[in-house]
Amino acid sequence: MKKILITGVAGLIGSHFATYLLDNGYDVIGIDNLTGGYLDFVDERLKKNKKFYKVDLLNVGGLEKVFKKNKPDYVYHFAAYAAEGLSPFIRNFNYTNNLLATVNVINECIKNNVKKIIFTSSMAVYGHGKAPFKEDQFPTPADPYGISKFAVEMDLKQARDQFGLEYSILRPHNVIGIRQNIWDTYRNVIGIWIRETILGNDLRIFGDGKQKRAFSDIFYCLKPFEKLMFDHNGEIFNIGSDKEYEIVEAAKILVKVANEFGFKPKIKFAEARNEVKHAYSSHEKAKRMLDFKDNTDLEKTIREMFAWALKQPQRKSKKMDYEIEKGMYNSWK
Ligand SMILES: NC(=O)c1ccc[n+]([C@@H]2O[C@H](COP(=O)([O-])OP(=O)(O)OC[C@H]3O[C@@H](n4cnc5c(N)ncnc54)[C@H](O)[C@@H]3O)[C@@H](O)[C@H]2O)c1
Repeated sequence: MKKILITGVAGLIGSHFATYLLDNGYDVIGIDNLTGGYLDFVDERLKKNKKFYKVDLLNVGGLEKVFKKNKPDYVYHFAAYAAEGLSPFIRNFNYTNNLLATVNVINECIKNNVKKIIFTSSMAVYGHGKAPFKEDQFPTPADPYGISKFAVEMDLKQARDQFGLEYSILRPHNVIGIRQNIWDTYRNVIGIWIRETILGNDLRIFGDGKQKRAFSDIFYCLKPFEKLMFDHNGEIFNIGSDKEYEIVEAAKILVKVANEFGFKPKIKFAEARNEVKHAYSSHEKAKRMLDFKDNTDLEKTIREMFAWALKQPQRKSKKMDYEIEKGMYNSWK
């Protein structure tokens, strides 16, 4: 049985992928420091079989022990703090948690002869490049989060050239679904809107709402992720939905669903942020090589997330310690 280690196993992508792999007969080991994900989100089978490790990837000794004890064949490295817009204000934390922590994982993969590492980079590596983004476009990341992802991509190539460590890179964008951290004020807009609606607040849109994004249900990502175990060494794949929405259109869908649940949020426009205007990718390569099909129905996914969110315990939204206050958006002060 193949042994798969997943970092970020308490998060959105990691928790769903762990369940998918366990359902399909893999031996799964999971790591998470529970800073962005929750123990409730970790598959019960991992907890029961003591295959879940609450370890911070910055803790080299702890990480070494997990690798030594479990000897994984493959590593899916999902752990990160993916708050793109916030990353310029938490530069040190961003590079420490997303780049240096990843280097620790890569070191362990090399030392333990892991067959392959699969890394979730991000669409953020394309920065202000021309959409739809294609994998062969030269990355020009526009914020520290994107820079850290691109740095890891380059480091993986170096590790392959020097040590023969195989890798594949995923560049997902706006993956959504239940078990999303809707309490994080700095991340995914759909999750934030759902939480604010349930709290009786307005739906805030930053800027004119004409910025475009495409949202993909996590469900459609799982099979293509699995395929990377067997093939495509050194390849990069965009993953996500082809159907882009103006943010204001997405907000209207959310209002429609909220009304069904008896909530009446109002859309309010707030100070614009420094963000990429139109961010969506071409998925032609993933469709051709990974059989990727995205059939996300945004309204349906939002409905599922809303129903799930209503059953969640009250959780506090935590505030980050800003390293830089200069230019901080009013909504985050
Ligand atoms: N969801 C998306 O739309 C999207 C888009 C592009 C890229 N990604 C990338 O995919 C990966 C997974 O994203 P997600 O949406 O599941 O995020 P998530 O926040 O839901 O999950 C990330 C998990 O990593 C854990 N983690 C963070 N730092 C850690 C550390 N130092 N040690 C151990 N655990 C740590 C968190 O506790 C969390 O459970 C991330 O690398 C993210 O950058 C996600």
